[in-house]
Amino acid sequence: MNLFIIFLLLDYWSLNAISATNTEVAIIRRDLNFTGMVNYDGFLSETHTVRTKDGYILTLYRVSSPNCSALRDSEPIMFMHGLFLSGDDCITPGPSGSHCYEYASACLDVWVPNARGTVYSRSHISLNPDTDSEYWNFSFDEMAQYDMPAVIDYVINATNKNQITYIGHAQAVATLLNLCAAKPEYNAKIKVGFGLSPTAWLYNCRFSVIQIDGALSTVLTGLIEAGLNAEFLPRGGVYQPFVKLLCGTTDLSYPACSDLLFAVLGNDSYQITEDTMKVLTGHLPGGTSLKNFNRWGQIYKNGFTKYDHGSVKNLLEYGTLTPPVFDLSNVTMKWIFITSYGDYVSNVTDVDTLIANVSNATKCIVSDKTFGHLDYLFGKDVPTMITPMITTYVDTGKFECL
Ligand SMILES: *[C@@H]1O[C@H](CO)[C@@H](O)[C@H](O)[C@H]1NC(C)=O
Ligand SMILES: *[C@@H]1O[C@H](CO)[C@@H](O)[C@H](O)[C@H]1NC(C)=O
Ligand SMILES: *[C@@H]1O[C@H](CO)[C@@H](O)[C@H](O)[C@H]1NC(C)=O
Ligand SMILES: *[C@@H]1O[C@H](CO)[C@@H](O)[C@H](O)[C@H]1NC(C)=O
Ligand SMILES: *[C@@H]1O[C@H](CO)[C@@H](O)[C@H](O)[C@H]1NC(C)=O
Ligand SMILES: *[C@@H]1O[C@H](CO)[C@@H](O)[C@H](O)[C@H]1NC(C)=O
Ligand SMILES: *[C@@H]1O[C@H](CO)[C@@H](O)[C@H](O)[C@H]1NC(C)=O
Ligand SMILES: *[C@@H]1O[C@H](CO)[C@@H](O)[C@H](O)[C@H]1NC(C)=O
Ligand SMILES: *[C@@H]1O[C@H](CO)[C@@H](O)[C@H](O)[C@H]1NC(C)=O
Repeated sequence: MNLFIIFLLLDYWSLNAISATNTEVAIIRRDLNFTGMVNYDGFLSETHTVRTKDGYILTLYRVSSPNCSALRDSEPIMFMHGLFLSGDDCITPGPSGSHCYEYASACLDVWVPNARGTVYSRSHISLNPDTDSEYWNFSFDEMAQYDMPAVIDYVINATNKNQITYIGHAQAVATLLNLCAAKPEYNAKIKVGFGLSPTAWLYNCRFSVIQIDGALSTVLTGLIEAGLNAEFLPRGGVYQPFVKLLCGTTDLSYPACSDLLFAVLGNDSYQITEDTMKVLTGHLPGGTSLKNFNRWGQIYKNGFTKYDHGSVKNLLEYGTLTPPVFDLSNVTMKWIFITSYGDYVSNVTDVDTLIANVSNATKCIVSDKTFGHLDYLFGKDVPTMITPMITTYVDTGKFECL
């Protein structure tokens, strides 16, 4: 009997010790930046700087594993984050379970750009993001026109390869589509594009932030056209300490924090674990411009159309009161869109519209019907359900939907 109690106590202590350690690790990783986390996780990183044609200075990270004596001779991987996010997305869940670590552990050459206006790319040759509102005069149209070609050309040149393999989350699909539509020579630079929770048409989006954005977009567009440019949801804003305190410090708040996330983004049956949730609170948001936020409200309202200047200026610019739909007939690169019936942002119906508008695209609906918008990045099943589809394709050239 006594022995049994001692066993119970030992069990209790050891369980506690393990969970305390996990929480400590999560809190340390929560407060580190990209290079700090890579270092802490036992991987290696390089920091590259890319200057765009319009003067924005972007940070491009490269991640590798110390256990690879050489990189494999295959196309470099580019992992591109989505709206409100940053390159942190591909390492946030930690050493076992993050996109970039899975690819680096397979000895692939992994590159991680950060879009203009995010915490790591908040820089310009002449504009100061803190004092020059003109710095924030951009949306994903400029990311497509300037950021994407700059980072793709940089990686192709630096690695001496002809093509990259692209992995883009949400907005990162829209930007590469626009680039390949406007400058078709970029199609040949992409071996294949994996679109995780792709966003283009958003008519069936149920993400409340985008719905509110859509409702505000007429007013916001007017203000922005009148010269209002500003940063939107920066990393380290006044809310960050509260978010860290509420959802990033203890397991007690986990159900409430998860339910809130589920309510807005899709019920994901707790794909994002307690520890990943804590780490996440230090890495969300990534920062963008008010104009880019508003741009997605326009898309929700208008469809996948060019920038909406408001009817008067649209008439001057496009000859119509509403902006024209993007013509994607130049997009010939191969796309594999990974989607889910449970995703409140990227609805399968909208993905079908996108597929019908590009010539070489297929979709994979993941077998877990509750998979949500952020689970493609942070879910506990990423290393069993998502990244194997990509590494298998890299290995064999064949795609199998899991
Ligand atoms: C990341 O954190 C390290 C250590 O705190 C710091 O030296 C470095 O400047 C940071 N990098 C960026 C891009 O903020
Ligand atoms: C490298 O290999 C060692 C020994 O197997 C292992 O302990 C370590 O976690 C590995 N590091 C990475 C980054 O995979
Ligand atoms: C291409 O890479 C080489 C080094 O690999 C570098 O010297 C050169 O400046 C790069 N060119 C461009 C256009 O980035
Ligand atoms: C297609 O590409 C050509 C350049 O090859 C470009 O002139 C044209 O505007 C593009 N079409 C669309 C609809 O973007
Ligand atoms: C924002 O940039 C556009 C060109 O992309 C320009 O027409 C407009 O005047 C700029 N607005 C402000 C407020 O600088
Ligand atoms: C979330 O999913 C679980 C099981 O997958 C289900 O029991 C629950 O009712 C769902 N909740 C919502 C709000 O959809
Ligand atoms: C789609 O792209 C792949 C890879 O570039 C190519 O092998 C295939 O022929 C293309 N299919 C079509 C229908 O264009
Ligand atoms: C996707 O759109 C359809 C049609 O509007 C809707 O019935 C369904 O609930 C949406 N799915 C999600 C997960 O939001
Ligand atoms: C492209 O998308 C539009 C929605 O803007 C849709 O009406 C059209 O049917 C799609 N194109 C094709 C070829 O299906």
